Amino acid sequence: MPEHTLAISGLHKRFGQVVALRDVGFTVRPGELFGFVGSNGAGKTTTMRIVLGVLNPDAGEVTFGGAPITRQVRTRIGYMPEERGLYPKMKVADHLVYLAELHGLSSVDARAATQRWLGRLGLDHRRGDEVQKLSLGNQQRVQLAAALVHEPDLLVLDEPFSGLDPVAVDVMSDVLREEAARGVPVVFSSHQLDLVERLCDRIGIIAGGRMVAVGSVEELTASAGAELEVVAPQAEPDWAANLPGVTVVAEEGPRTVLRLAPGADDQAVLHAALATGPVTGFTRHRPSLVELFRAVVTEDGGGSRHA
Ligand SMILES: Nc1ncnc2c1ncn2[C@@H]1O[C@H](COP(=O)(O)OP(=O)(O)OP(=O)(O)O)[C@@H](O)[C@H]1O
Ligand SMILES: [Mg+2]
Repeated sequence: MPEHTLAISGLHKRFGQVVALRDVGFTVRPGELFGFVGSNGAGKTTTMRIVLGVLNPDAGEVTFGGAPITRQVRTRIGYMPEERGLYPKMKVADHLVYLAELHGLSSVDARAATQRWLGRLGLDHRRGDEVQKLSLGNQQRVQLAAALVHEPDLLVLDEPFSGLDPVAVDVMSDVLREEAARGVPVVFSSHQLDLVERLCDRIGIIAGGRMVAVGSVEELTASAGAELEVVAPQAEPDWAANLPGVTVVAEEGPRTVLRLAPGADDQAVLHAALATGPVTGFTRHRPSLVELFRAVVTEDGGGSRHA
């Protein structure tokens, strides 16, 4: 299987007066699980549709292994669209065989792959049922099987976790990890940030059609600066108010929560705290992805979407 990098750069897209994307770019390397997050309407689906060639950008380009994504390359992508495009009246197994053949597998290989994925995703007993008779979550499993049945070289999944029960979330997580381990670049969008934080090698945050952060969870949370919790029972209120690079987030009795700007000196804070008397607690927290998300998305303010 060829191992290629997906590279997206300088994407601009406008729908009438609405600027959906401005200069969107990021890369997803072979074997990497990339989480694409952003508020409703931020531009995730638009970006993914452009990768698939369903939409054309006004500017910018998408390459896979350094070459543009041609019709030929497109058959090697596994895609889960936001609007789940299965034929409701088709039977589950027939549907998967049909899709696999459409992507170039022989009839024998298509059947074998269908069998494998039905088993892997716990859908064996539903193989003869019409897609429309399945629950939403099971339809979603079929949709995942549909994205995977032709052994794609690249996976692009638009909110694969929405509507899944906790067991199905685990199955989906395992499958995405396995696909990445096979050397496939995997990009998926999600609003479940705890899951994204746990699962992804790298994350891209889009706000108002612009990338506001791209990197590993460690890189992103380090760049956001740390949070310190200081317990100093004899300190006066506002003791930390004027320390450089420090913002007071909360003050409750002896406990003060501070946000440090990147590079700010936590030892200087400790010295200042000790100057007030005994310090009985001094803890550094890494911000969670949810906190980071709130910070960067609010900072951006959305900007004006209108041209
Ligand atoms: N076909 C279209 N015609 C007009 N506007 C569109 C079209 N598709 C998307 N938009 C607009 O482009 C912007 C980005 O939409 P997009 O669907 O990419 O967001 P998203 O990040 O996928 O959001 P969600 O989390 O809700 O799925 C929105 O302002 C949306 O209204
Ligand atoms: Mg979307």
